[in-house]
Parts: sequence; C-alpha cells; structure tokens
Amino acid sequence: MVALTPVRAASPKEVYPGVWRFTFGTPEKITPVATRHYPPAAAGFAGLPDAGRCPIDVTATISERGILVHAPLANGEMLYGLGLQLQSFQQRGLKKRLRVNADPARDTGDSHAPVPFYVTTRGYGVFVDTARYATFYMGNKRRKGAPPNAPTEVLAEVPEAAGVDVYVFGGPTLRQAVQRYNLFSGGGPLPPRWGLGCWYRGEKDYSQSNVLSLAAEFREQRMPCDVLGLEPGWQTHAYSCSYVWSSRFPDPGTMLHELAALHFRLNLWEHAFVNPASPIYSALKPYSGDYEVWGGLVPDFLDPQARSIFADFHDREHIALGVSGYKADECDNSDFTGNWSFPEISRFPSGADGEQMHSLFGLRYQDALTQSFEKRKQRTYGLVRSSGALAAPYPYVLYSDLYDHRQFVRGVAQEGFSGLLWTPEVRDSSNSVELIRRLESTVFSPLAIINAWYLRNPPWKQVNRRDNNAGKFAPDWEKTEAQCRSILELRMKFVPLLHAAFVRYNREGLPPFRALVMDYPGDSGSRTVDDEYIMGDGVLVAPVIVAGAPGSHDPELPPVAADGETTRSVYLPPGEWQDFWTGEKHRGQQRIEVRVPLERIPLFVKSGVVLPLAEPTLDTDDPQSRKLTVMVFGDGREAATLFEDDGASPPTLSPVTISWHAAEKTGTVSGAATYQVEKWVQIPATP
Ligand code: GAL
Repeated sequence: MVALTPVRAASPKEVYPGVWRFTFGTPEKITPVATRHYPPAAAGFAGLPDAGRCPIDVTATISERGILVHAPLANGEMLYGLGLQLQSFQQRGLKKRLRVNADPARDTGDSHAPVPFYVTTRGYGVFVDTARYATFYMGNKRRKGAPPNAPTEVLAEVPEAAGVDVYVFGGPTLRQAVQRYNLFSGGGPLPPRWGLGCWYRGEKDYSQSNVLSLAAEFREQRMPCDVLGLEPGWQTHAYSCSYVWSSRFPDPGTMLHELAALHFRLNLWEHAFVNPASPIYSALKPYSGDYEVWGGLVPDFLDPQARSIFADFHDREHIALGVSGYKADECDNSDFTGNWSFPEISRFPSGADGEQMHSLFGLRYQDALTQSFEKRKQRTYGLVRSSGALAAPYPYVLYSDLYDHRQFVRGVAQEGFSGLLWTPEVRDSSNSVELIRRLESTVFSPLAIINAWYLRNPPWKQVNRRDNNAGKFAPDWEKTEAQCRSILELRMKFVPLLHAAFVRYNREGLPPFRALVMDYPGDSGSRTVDDEYIMGDGVLVAPVIVAGAPGSHDPELPPVAADGETTRSVYLPPGEWQDFWTGEKHRGQQRIEVRVPLERIPLFVKSGVVLPLAEPTLDTDDPQSRKLTVMVFGDGREAATLFEDDGASPPTLSPVTISWHAAEKTGTVSGAATYQVEKWVQIPATP
C-alpha cells in the first residue's frame, strides 16, 4: 500500500491582506508563481474589506505519487473555477485532471486554460501553485467508514512534487475572494479602447489587396470594425511559422499606413513553433526543447533570452510597421486527439519538462508577445488559445475551435472565476438566425469577433461556407447585413461602459463579466445559472442560444423558429430589474419568460442604474463615439463612472461621473473632457 505521510506546514503566512500561503515540503522550482512576469497589484487590496482570519486550514500528505493537498468542505458549499471549464459550471462533485488540451472532448478537466484555483460560496478561494497536471477531487470522495453525512474535502493531487505552496484567498464573499486572487495575479488588463470595438478576421489566404478592399467595403457599408486580423497566409511558412511576410503582402508598411488612415488596427495570427526558414531559427535553437512541432522549434519561453530573441524580431518586422497585436494560436496541447504539439517527455534548457511547459506555455508565450509593446509603452489587445494560473493581467482573450453555442456562452459566465477572458467567436452558421444569435453573444463578451478565417466573404452575405467561397450570396443578404450592423452598433454603444468595467478589473480585480453567483452568492437561484451573466455594473445578459447549431447537443434547448421569434426563460437575481428594450419592470428572484425577437438579445438592467451609451460609430477613434445618450433606469440613484483615457501606457485615467437627480429630473456630469452627454432618457418614460 502507498504510504501517505502527513507534511505539516509552518503556520500559514499572510502574504497580502487576506491572502495566506501554506508551504508544504519543498515546492518545485518551476511553478506559476515562481515564473510569473507581473507582480501582485498590491495597492488594490486596500480597497477590500478585512477578510478576518484564514478561513480554512489546509493540510497535505506526501507519498511516492507526489503531494496530496486536503482542503475542508462544508455541507452545501458550492465550488467554481478550475479555469475554462466549458462543459460544467459548478464543480462540486466532479473530478478534474487539469491538463492543457485544445480538444477538451469530455468534462474531465482538459482545457485550453486549466487553472488550479477554485472559489466557494462560503467566500474564499484556494490556489495550488503547480505547473503539474494536478487532479482535483471536488468533494466527491469519501474515506472508508465516514458517516454518510460527514463533510467531505477537496483533494488536489500534485504528481512528481515533493512539496507545494497553497494560497488561500479570503473574502468575506466569493466575489471578494476572486478579486483577491486577481489582485494577487497582478490585476486585470486595461485594453486600449480600440480593442473593445468590433473585430473581423479575413480568410486565411487573403492578400494585401483583399485586405484593403475588405477595409474599404466595411467603411462603405458602414459596418463597425476597429481591428482586422490576418490568418496564416500572411507568412511565408505557417505550420511551423517563419514570422516573415509572404509574397501575398508585397508592401506591408504601406498597407498598415492605409489601414491606419481608415482607423483600422491590424492583428497577426501566428503560433510559437519556429520554422527552419525563419530568420530567428538558429538564434533560438539553443533555447528550445528537444522535440519538434510541425518541423519547427519549441522555444523555451521560460528563458528570458528566448523571449527576447522572439520579441525583438516581432518588434522590428511587425510592430514597428504598426501591427497592433497578435493571435497566439496552437499554444495548447493536442497530441491526445490531434497528434501535434510537444510531448510531456520533452526537456527544456530551463529545466522544465513537457508537462510543466504545457501548463506555462500559453502564459510565457504571452509574455514574449507583450514584451515589445511594454518596451514601447504601447497597449495591445489580442487573442490566445491557451492560458493558465495568474492570467488576470494579460491583455489576451481565449478562443476555441470548438463551436457549441451553449458551451461558448457558459465560457463567458465562467471566465471570471479564474482570471480569464474568453470570446464566443462567430464563424459560419447554419442559417442567418444562428449567425445573428451568435453575433449577439460575441458582442457581449470581452472581445467581439467574427473569425471568418475560412470564408472569402463576410458571413452576412452567405452563411454557408461552400456557397460563400463560391461567391454565391444569399438572395436577402442585405437584410442580414443590416441586422448584423445593428448588433455591431450595439457593441459600439457599450464601449465606454466596458472600458470602465476593465478599469475596475485593473484596479480592483473585479472581472468585467461575472456569473450571477459572483454578485449574489447568497441567492440559491443564482448558483447554477450558467447561460446568463452580469456585464460591468448592473447589466444582465441572457444570450439566446441556438438549438441544433453545429456542436450543440442539449436537447433541452427551445427550437429557434425560422423568423427567429421565440421566448427564453431568464432567471433574475435579487433586486428589481428592467428590460433594456421595453423598460418593463420585474421583481428579482424569479424566472420569467421573455419574448426574444431576433436582433434583441435579452438584456436586463438593475433598476436605479444610470447607463451611458455611446453614439455608435464605425471605429472607436471617431470623436462622435464620445457622445453619450444616458439611459436612466428607475430613479437613477446609482451614478455611472466612465473614464477618460489618454491611450498611453500606463494610461492617465480620469473619472467622469454621470448622475441623475430624480427629484429635479435632471442629470449632471463631472470630470468630462471628451465625453459629452447629448440626451437623457428615463426608462420607463415618465409622463
Ligand atoms: C486554428 C485556429 C483558427 C484559425 C486556424 C487557421 O488553429 O483556432 O481560429 O486561426 O487555425 O489555420
């Protein structure tokens, strides 16, 4: 029998206010904390209430299997987190092996972004600082002879390790435990305003002239767009990558100049595996692992030298020309299902093995890509397909090749538990109803994106992939285009509020998108809702999920009629809520059935909220985008705070307070320099 020897930690050390570290044995040298780039956002802790004493006592045992962490659980306590878990929301009762995988086929813990951190409805969080594929038993195992009603525990088995640090984050609420974890991670990122506009990625083989005509078409057709993305064909070699512009782009400098004149930013697709034809191949060779991927090197991003070689080339060849950021693809693992990526048996010069490298690869790759932007004091925003522990400060949003709409929406509800950002991107669709519903969910996410990497033409012209690429447009495509335009415009209206929500993420660690349970942990009805979420302050988003969409397998979903008219059941948490579209008031703590005409994503605003919405423009550079219509819900007692942002890094932010005075029926604005209130609208309208 395997011997389990208890390892006693010295008494836990309070490393930041309300953050305790338990050290068991001798922790490994390569962990998320040991290799972190961003320091904790220490100043933010002062804004949180006193967390009191360490809420739980953590213990550990050691054996030849590694180290086993024991954390107590109370009856009825519910658990959330463990990273991007697209197939389950509440984690109690589940077993999760936290393994990086691009194709998480079953709900076993495989994820683009596994994170060994969970939070509970009792108002604390637990982070196991490991880069191993740890297994978490979330209160689902009982010791022999334990009485049936005895409380269980969370067991986290860390293989290989002879020790581990475990951090406990106090609350006193679940939301504050999340804030402490995010502040410990470094605080949330502050995307540039353009990052919060609309994004579109063109077909993978687009040429320079294709890109420029697409840009012109977007402006002519008045389709909002801030960022265009290039897919693999911009490089001479893509699998593996050369990072060198291909002959399709004879003059990238001029193209970037022309795009900038139209107020477009450009984002480049790439992955980290370096082709022998790449100019950085030989310099990186000594700083790479002992296995190849697609014939290319796997850079040892744990080594600063490897990051600098990589970053300097990107800086010179792309960023200096005006490239605004990257989509860091393929940095998750897929040799379980797709037979690519480096094996766990790999060795890296830094001392990491393949398992540790997989857990950290997405993070340290983001470090490499962000390095030149940081040096240039320039903000970036981009996409990444793998991330992990302590990810809050990274200006990168996760995405996936999976396409189940239900799971994609769950991702938005879920991301905030683990310091992640996620986008339910739009690709092709089975009909225009699905296109519109998917578009509605991506515009209410951290990054509003259409990833048309396999469509020659925008999906509103033809949703079907084959017909789209054959240039056969749908007979009524202009109607679909108009519908899509109004949804993209809705995103543009919310940019100031989203930006303000990110400022809070940055300073206070409060995620901009949150599950209902994060704001209402005491409300039992909120605890299992994973198809709705809160955005910013007081806006509840309940996307209409398309039944029968590719990858969708939930028989419970209501069918979407051809005209898109249907109803949706929405749970409203405590308080009074108002329909964004009609102003109708509803009492909270109940489920209501709402009509959901196409183009109207169900949105509810907490009564009392002041909601400033921007004039929808084609891009966020347009000064008109600072003109506001202020919607006042109910008595408007909750003033809104927006921020003037000079765009610099670090930014100068000055608050703009927008208040409504119900007795006088007037509004006031203080601190505005570029923001300008054009109109105040009371909802519902008062006679
Ligand atoms: C996939 C990625 C897609 C697209 C494609 C291009 O790995 O997830 O979004 O970029 O590569 O080959």
